[in-house]
Amino acid sequence: MALLPILEYPDPRLKKIATPVTAFDSAIKRLVDDMAETMYAAPGIGLAATQVDVHKRVIVIDVSQDKSDLKVIINPEIVAASGQAVGEEGCLSVPEIYDRVPRAERVTLQAQDASGTPYTLEADGLLAVCIQHEMDHLQGKVFVEYLSSLKQMRVKSKLKKRAREHRAD
Ligand code: NI
Repeated sequence: MALLPILEYPDPRLKKIATPVTAFDSAIKRLVDDMAETMYAAPGIGLAATQVDVHKRVIVIDVSQDKSDLKVIINPEIVAASGQAVGEEGCLSVPEIYDRVPRAERVTLQAQDASGTPYTLEADGLLAVCIQHEMDHLQGKVFVEYLSSLKQMRVKSKLKKRAREHRAD
């Protein structure tokens, strides 16, 4: 397994649209393993392949307290959504920025696991929000794009400043 570098907003590669996985081979299993390791090490609760510059419809999520509930979500489709939830979101590609984003409260997801086996998942609360956040990444969308343009400008300048400081370290 290996830690993968995570792209940071506003890297233009975060805007690429991911394509479906068609071959459930050893390369996909390795990608899933590496993404899980990268997410846990960050630490984070979700990671989309887009964020590690692999433009395939692959997501890993674990919202449990003890890292015991890894969900591998490949070729996801939301087939039902209901309710509204507005929660504070963050993103490994947008370090140290948190803001409120409107989401559906409950979603029903159809996806495939790392072997290609289809399954259905009913999710609510944090898991439902995380699924929607990660699926946005597969469409080239980062959560800050839901914010006002003024806030987006502030986020960009904060991240530029942060990148400069890190280079100086
Ligand atoms: Ni994210």
